[in-house]
Amino acid sequence: MSKRVTTQVSAGEIAQQYKYIEILRDYNQKRVSDAGKPVKYNIETFGCQMNENDSERLSGMLSEMGYSESAKRAESDLIIFNTCCVRENAEQKVYGHLGALKKLKENNPELVIAICGCMMQQPEVVEHIKKVYRHVDIVFGTHNLYKFPELLNTAVESRQTVIDVWDSTGSIAENMPITRKDNLKAWVTVMYGCNNFCSYCIVPYVRGRERSRSMEDIKNEVVRLAMEGCKEITLLGQNVNSYGKDLEGGYTFAGLLRELNTVDGIERIRFMTSHPKDLSDELIYAMRDCEKVCEHLHLPVQAGSTRILDEMNRRYTKEQYLELVEKIKTHIPGIALSTDIIVGFPGETEEDFSETLDIVAKARFDMAYTFLYSKRTGTPAAKNPDQVSEEVKKERFDRLLALQNSISREINDELLGKEAEVLVEGLSKSSKTTYTGRTRENKIVNFKGSPELTGKLVKIKIDTIQTWSLLGKLI
Ligand code: SAH
Ligand code: SF4
Ligand code: F3S
Repeated sequence: MSKRVTTQVSAGEIAQQYKYIEILRDYNQKRVSDAGKPVKYNIETFGCQMNENDSERLSGMLSEMGYSESAKRAESDLIIFNTCCVRENAEQKVYGHLGALKKLKENNPELVIAICGCMMQQPEVVEHIKKVYRHVDIVFGTHNLYKFPELLNTAVESRQTVIDVWDSTGSIAENMPITRKDNLKAWVTVMYGCNNFCSYCIVPYVRGRERSRSMEDIKNEVVRLAMEGCKEITLLGQNVNSYGKDLEGGYTFAGLLRELNTVDGIERIRFMTSHPKDLSDELIYAMRDCEKVCEHLHLPVQAGSTRILDEMNRRYTKEQYLELVEKIKTHIPGIALSTDIIVGFPGETEEDFSETLDIVAKARFDMAYTFLYSKRTGTPAAKNPDQVSEEVKKERFDRLLALQNSISREINDELLGKEAEVLVEGLSKSSKTTYTGRTRENKIVNFKGSPELTGKLVKIKIDTIQTWSLLGKLI
């Protein structure tokens, strides 16, 4: 089998998009001077950090086009939904919001409504939107996000619905604008797509095959971020352990971490997600050696029963997972682990579920994101006739949550009286004097502080343990 090598969208094509940005900027300038008020956009992002990062790219393009961001849909000239389809409730939420836009469009026929992201990669969803939500003007997918300026221009000029969804791509678009939500902490996507095909998961179908950005492009982005004052980066990919496999030159994720660890100004490096089946020793050593890489690892286990793990196509056993956890904890003492768990995968028996409780008790995660299994059309698990009833799923879910909460609490209780390094993010939402930040282990810490501490690393002595956060005092 010949190796698939990731390519870049040509400079010419990117330049073309900048031309459309310019056309729209002129158009908007005229609108602004005619109306005497800014043209505004509003983006609603559903789903994971990858989608958040994609929305930051859309924001970047829009601000270059002369749009300003608005928190209010009702006063916006352009509304975008960036959608997720990982679970059914994510999709239901989108449809709910989309229905509510109909009224806005009736009141303001000039309003442009665009919908993009993972849901749009499913042809039946696009059909449904065409039929039921006729107030939508632009539909595009995950593979052609960089073409948004062109699609928007076509919609504005033609005043007709524009639908453009690609099945796949082997390319990556670099050098498009980006406007980030947070200046202190930034998402940096290092690879797109997933080749793992876990049997329950829709992501490989809607995000396509694995594609890694070049190390040089990633490093340049991180250096630029550091110059702009960013202190913490989180590297994103569905399975970062596969980074570089599609590039010529023997690049690895461990190598990427070592390279980024040298960037001056960046204080902390995080990443997600790692698949347990191919978390290499080199990666563990890189985490251990690189002082900027935080002592936190998100390592989704999904289930505890080896039989279910096999059915899920996860390609590790319960024992292998626990051995891996041991190895990581030995090399990186004090590391915090978080995980994802699915409850009620088809065919899951009470005995299988007790293995999930057992692995949770043994691995002692700091935190777990727990999900009820959701049937995704097109995935192998959806065809399994042995679906678990909602009632049983919910009952198991509650037991799992109770166990995990008590473990999280026990782990946090051990932090009482300890010192922690906190990157100060700013005022906490509910107070004028309480500041908030996170430890290297990703725990939220609140403390009395002052404005000049924002963006700094401070030492805090933990004096109170709460369910979702810690309280402490500046040392
Ligand atoms: N690539 C990442 C996560 C992708 S989706 C990984 O492999 O870990 C995030 C989480 O959603 C998954 O870890 C899984 O726990 C959950 N998930 C995915 N498909 C699901 C489904 N059909 N039903 C319920 N949860 C699901
Ligand atoms: Fe989905 Fe599995 Fe890929 Fe994660 S690794 S995105 S769970 S298929
Ligand atoms: Fe959802 Fe797509 Fe992320 S399906 S979880 S937004 S990759």
